[in-house]
Amino acid sequence: MKIAPSILSADFSCLKDDVATVSSAEWLHIDVMDGHFVPNLSFGAPVIKALRPHTKQTFDTHLMIENPERYLDDFIDAGSDHITFHIETVENPKALIERLHDAGVKAGISIKPRTGVEAIEAYLPTLDVVLVMSVEPGFGGQAFMPDSLEKIERLKAIRDREGFRYAIVVDGGINEKTGKQCLEAGADVLVAGSYIFKAKDREAQMRTLRR
Ligand code: DX5
Ligand code: ZN
Repeated sequence: MKIAPSILSADFSCLKDDVATVSSAEWLHIDVMDGHFVPNLSFGAPVIKALRPHTKQTFDTHLMIENPERYLDDFIDAGSDHITFHIETVENPKALIERLHDAGVKAGISIKPRTGVEAIEAYLPTLDVVLVMSVEPGFGGQAFMPDSLEKIERLKAIRDREGFRYAIVVDGGINEKTGKQCLEAGADVLVAGSYIFKAKDREAQMRTLRR
């Protein structure tokens, strides 16, 4: 399993120092919000670009924005290793996946709690990441929605049956209890924001998540 701390819960006044406190995590989860697709604003590509030289961690960019196709190049140029967009925001997901792959970036699609796995089924063969939202996107610190466990199980069963390659990533309300449930259901990567960044000793907190 891998851990992806969500920098949404980091201290933005000293982002690079905060990121250094979670350096054992394989990925860094980067939440971009536009105030339209979700009722909150976070930050954009310049922040990602500024952070890029300070860590070798995989940048897992999660776009919670409308018209992601319009800003895709900015997020590619900023140094994202993965870019995940929401199925609810695009008309032609295939075109976006192709653009990402042409640029050498791994492609992900995310589904909100009320969107079913069938909405993305057609794209599963070409995806590198499937991001299951286990809270309504927009804010850190919300409670995990247990319905997402079934989606994780379903995605794992499809992948095993078809031999697909996507990583199953779960995002929202992850702590040691819900994280364990997600891993048992078949998740490969746990995104955790408040659980990790609220802790004084973040490395110890991540070790607890791995156990
Ligand atoms: C929510 C974001 C999450 C958020 C998770 O819309 O996509 O990545 O940071 O925060 P926690 O782990 O606190 O639920
Ligand atoms: Zn996220």
